[in-house]
Amino acid sequence: MSKFLSKIVTQYPELKYALLEAQTFDPQYFGFPEVYYKIMETDSVRVNSFRDSFLKYKNFKNKVVCEVGVGTLALSRFFLPHVKKAYLIESNPKLIKFIQKELKKNGWEKKVVFIAADAMTVQLPEKVDFIIGENMSIFCANEHQVQIFQHLRQFLKPKGKLIPEKIINLVQLGKATFSKNIKHYPIMFSRHLPTVMTIQKEVNTIDLYKTKDKPVAKTVRVKTLLSGKVNCVYLNSWVQCVEGVNFTGTDSLMPPTIVKLKKAVNVVAGETIQLKVKFSYGTSLDEALFWIEQ
Ligand SMILES: C[S@@+](CC[C@H](N)C(=O)[O-])C[C@H]1O[C@@H](n2cnc3c(N)ncnc32)[C@H](O)[C@@H]1O
Repeated sequence: MSKFLSKIVTQYPELKYALLEAQTFDPQYFGFPEVYYKIMETDSVRVNSFRDSFLKYKNFKNKVVCEVGVGTLALSRFFLPHVKKAYLIESNPKLIKFIQKELKKNGWEKKVVFIAADAMTVQLPEKVDFIIGENMSIFCANEHQVQIFQHLRQFLKPKGKLIPEKIINLVQLGKATFSKNIKHYPIMFSRHLPTVMTIQKEVNTIDLYKTKDKPVAKTVRVKTLLSGKVNCVYLNSWVQCVEGVNFTGTDSLMPPTIVKLKKAVNVVAGETIQLKVKFSYGTSLDEALFWIEQ
């Protein structure tokens, strides 16, 4: 173990932006590189928050479900043995063969309609009891969770349920060191955390039953607890998968993320400052704007 650890320790500086690279859309892979699927599959905190949500609904026994962005079936395999019928959607062509093989191997292919397409163009032939989708990213700024659920919820039965249901976006201000050309990065090791100087405040809450895709523009009043120069925002997204089952971010999904402020500002402990926030869902955090109104 000590040898393994000392190897990682020497790599800390290189690993500062490794998650950013793994989680950035890569056209060469039609999405995420293979390593990111490994990061997601092996994260039991992420996977179990979905597994526990499915259990709350008795694994959808005899229900009709739709899962969007099934990836390597890391979540689907928990409910597929129990459902009556499943529509599984995935847009990454590199995964088609793998998914088809897995469905056949497990004897699920008869009750599954596999749709290899962009979820935002898909029309389902019937209404479903549940729509499940893990297409999230911090603040939903990079990924299309909001747009995908906005399109698919027309196919939800009146008493149908979404998983997840709600995403709460939170912000703090602090100071971090950015390399050249880096505007944001997710945290993998705590040494890359910013030095925070304010309390955490809610920016907005995404209700996946209702929220529509439109730009978010907010002013957030934040109290400073320490004095110093702030140059970044520290973002967290808390997810309610179902009521009582939550997920608040790990390295594999919605890792706490740092974004550069438009301009660094000196703050004094005890003052309340006005943080301006502007971003659009499913674009890029690099396009998001955070600045302090002076
Ligand atoms: C974050 S991964 C989650 C994979 C899997 N559900 C899991 O939890 O391990 C999101 C998946 O959704 C797929 N995806 C993203 N946008 C999509 C879209 N518009 N339509 C269909 N699939 C999409 C990606 O290719 C990727 O495989």
